Amino acid sequence: MEKRKIIFDCDPGHDDIMAIMNALAHPEQLEILGYTTVCGNNYVDKVTRNLCQVLTALGKDGKVAVGYDAPLVLDPDPQPAAHGESGLDGPTLPEPTVQPINQHAVEFLHEMAVKHEKITIVALAPLTNIAVFLKTWPELKEKIECITLMGGSRSSGNILPRAEFNIYEDPHAAKLVFESGVPIVMSDIEICLECATPHTMIDALKGQGKVQDLAHDILQFFSLYNRRRNVPQSPVFDLVPVMHMLHPELFVEKPCKVQIETAGKYTQGMTIVDDADAEHANVRLLGHCVDVEAYNAYFMENLKILNERI
Ligand code: BDR
Ligand code: CA
Repeated sequence: MEKRKIIFDCDPGHDDIMAIMNALAHPEQLEILGYTTVCGNNYVDKVTRNLCQVLTALGKDGKVAVGYDAPLVLDPDPQPAAHGESGLDGPTLPEPTVQPINQHAVEFLHEMAVKHEKITIVALAPLTNIAVFLKTWPELKEKIECITLMGGSRSSGNILPRAEFNIYEDPHAAKLVFESGVPIVMSDIEICLECATPHTMIDALKGQGKVQDLAHDILQFFSLYNRRRNVPQSPVFDLVPVMHMLHPELFVEKPCKVQIETAGKYTQGMTIVDDADAEHANVRLLGHCVDVEAYNAYFMENLKILNERI
């Protein structure tokens, strides 16, 4: 099988790390060319450090290129309620030996797009880096097989009643990306909620191995919000795009036309999803997961595989 060459654009972030761990478990399918970081869940220095610490803890190397520290137009709006003050509260992590490379995220994306025949961008954060890359080198759009992103919603929100964080945080960047013509796979809030992971599974990770212990500590913190409300499972948002690359058979896709609200007083970052206009579709929306049990079994299995490989 030909390996898919991927770049994570991310703001780690508990669920970003779960996505990365699941991809690291399958180097035969996914070749990680590198990681670009961006201001999102927290400022870029914090999320970059979190990523470098986790890679160090896993004994993995990797190219980490630091990107923008603010959205294109709006001010940053960190989310300590969801991810803690560090952006990755919960686990105890080592001082990082992995260090960012001396190249801006956007330059790194450029270099990778020039060098490789096709790349996939796995976008798990506000789309600032990607928007600047596409605007600066539009001729390289054809080198992008797809942008598979976590963001947006059909009818819900986690920042505003109708806006999801990654789009809300930099709606101007999102508009550029969604209107770019590059193929987009969209994992929105609704599919992430459908694929939520039972807390019993998270609890059972403890003591299974080094990787599972780390995942356990990360997910315990991330699931606190739902545990406090007596909800028995939590969405691990950013995992969905990676699971879709590994197991596309688990998902039903829908071609949709998606537009981004940048100016709305009550709707900043709203994604207007039109599933009746397949003719003008700019997005393949992951509309439904056909087997959530299998999805979560693969999730746990991937952590086990990674544990055996480090
Ligand atoms: C998104 O917001 C971030 O905080 C998460 O990592 C995820 O990418 C969910 O709305
Ligand atoms: Ca994220």
